[in-house]
Amino acid sequence: MTDTMIAVIGGSGIYDIDGLADATWQTVETPWGDPSDQILTGMLDGVKMAFLPRHGRGHVHSPSTVPYRANIDALKRIGVTDVVSVSACGSFRDEMAPGDFVIVDQFIDRTFAREKSFFGTGCVAHVSVAHPTCPRLSTACHTAAQDAGIKVHMGGTYLAMEGPQFSTLAESKMYRESWGADVIGMTNMPEAKLAREAELCYASVAMITDYDSWHPDHGEVDVTEIIKTLMGNSDKGRDLVKRLPALLGANREDCPHGCDKALEFAIMTAPE
Ligand code: ADE
Repeated sequence: MTDTMIAVIGGSGIYDIDGLADATWQTVETPWGDPSDQILTGMLDGVKMAFLPRHGRGHVHSPSTVPYRANIDALKRIGVTDVVSVSACGSFRDEMAPGDFVIVDQFIDRTFAREKSFFGTGCVAHVSVAHPTCPRLSTACHTAAQDAGIKVHMGGTYLAMEGPQFSTLAESKMYRESWGADVIGMTNMPEAKLAREAELCYASVAMITDYDSWHPDHGEVDVTEIIKTLMGNSDKGRDLVKRLPALLGANREDCPHGCDKALEFAIMTAPE
């Protein structure tokens, strides 16, 4: 048994955790540079919690410049066991409407301008990301969303794009019609891959803000629309987060899906 420590990586619209006891902003140093910001730690319902604003307070990092490796490493260093990503996304499905949440379970990684691994020269490892999210943690997020009265979809494929511009109409149609993506965003990759390399359980709560640009009955996406929907969504996101400690508990066994042992058969480099 180990202590549970839940980290929330908050995207646009989520900037702290309600009701956190002993809340302290901590500076954490890593060999990968500085994280996006200090990390807020504290206790919620007897469970250790951490919060990291993905874009930094004041929204100073674009999706391409978020220091993903430093963020995941910093969370690992302070004892985090479970990472819940909260982020905004566009929808490729009529039935996944703005205001709904999706508990993402698959990704298509189209990002290309980001460092994506802790492993390279010196130590080579190939972890499996066939199932990139943790079913146990994802189920807790789904239950928390339902309990909070949020319209939530369990499972969905998230297309991670580089940005910062939104997709063209042709891209939007291709992702939806040919590639089978359900939602689109700019931040969950390489975050999910790095969490797996760090042997952390990872779940993604995607808050739908728009229909990207494919939908014939909706105009093309813009930031004003996203912010408007986010304002309505952020209370829901915070409500979901508040319910996680009670669902996950203060102590945890090994992850039944092996997220915490991802490196066991992944390292290629011979020991010294
Ligand atoms: N974040 C929110 N909506 C988005 C969209 N349509 N494309 C990419 N990232 C998004």
